[in-house]
Amino acid sequence: MLNPSDYIKESIEEIKKTVGDGTAVIGLSGGVDSSVASVLTKEALGDNLIAVFVDHGLLREGEAEYVQKTFEPRLNFRYVNASEEFLDALEGVSDPEEKRKIIGKIFIDVFERVAEEVGAKFLVQGTIAPDWIESEGDIKSHHNVALPHGLVLEIVEPIRELYKDEVRIIGTELGLPEEMVKRQPYPGPGLAVRVTGKLSHEKIAVCRKANAIVEEEVEKVGIQEELWQYFAVLTDTKVTGVKGDIRDYGYLVVLRMVASMDAMTAHVPELPWDMVKTISRRITAEIPEVTHVSLSVSDKPPSTIEFA
Ligand code: XMP
Repeated sequence: MLNPSDYIKESIEEIKKTVGDGTAVIGLSGGVDSSVASVLTKEALGDNLIAVFVDHGLLREGEAEYVQKTFEPRLNFRYVNASEEFLDALEGVSDPEEKRKIIGKIFIDVFERVAEEVGAKFLVQGTIAPDWIESEGDIKSHHNVALPHGLVLEIVEPIRELYKDEVRIIGTELGLPEEMVKRQPYPGPGLAVRVTGKLSHEKIAVCRKANAIVEEEVEKVGIQEELWQYFAVLTDTKVTGVKGDIRDYGYLVVLRMVASMDAMTAHVPELPWDMVKTISRRITAEIPEVTHVSLSVSDKPPSTIEFA
């Protein structure tokens, strides 16, 4: 990579040349890549870039507010709350790939509606090098995409040649807060891939609370930068527990904390035992639907990082 300020200057010129005074949209997820792609493109296009944040109801606790607070002052930011549409379509679905398909389809529908409304001709994407090197190495950098209802957009990928560490450097150079550029990756389908078995509003809410406790405790201990991801999975298994003198029957939550360079492989590092015990105690004390917490100790491979 060139030095960060030269890279930014060159990208701005390139984007201006491609988009001119056209209108562009980007799906801003709040993850590092789409966030950096958004603020970089904004430097070139100003308010002609509309950053669309779709709330699918599968976000972490406080995430919608965090993304809104971070980007509303920086971008032409559009918050779309489509959570009911997503959650209604997902109710009762258990197959992980089916969940992903439903989420992907609704996401594109919602996104296309907004893109059409604002008259977009360009779609900015936060694609980075490993995304295309690992999948379709020969995919062209200049191409169009036809959305299902007929809208055709030209793709612009301003950080396509960068690796994650470089994306973070560019984000910092563009003035994004440190905690934003260092965020752990979060899967697009969100909590849907962290709830095993049939999805329901109740299970998603339980999973969200457990995740919030994991994040809070890991960040309290301060080991987040040693971990690639740290989260809770709500399993479909119900186990017997005891609350007071009464037998109880509740969910099993699994804690998943892995170290990794690029998510292709991952390992479970040594973890502070006091932290693990605190998380377990808090989850069973604060979430009545959960009776048991266990810790995943499986590396990738053979396991994947997510459970679904
Ligand atoms: P796995 O579970 O395959 O995950 O080891 C590797 C990395 O990819 C993330 N992941 C996803 N990200 N959509 C995404 O945007 C998905 O459907 C998806 N599934 C997994 C996962 O969080 C990990 O960082």
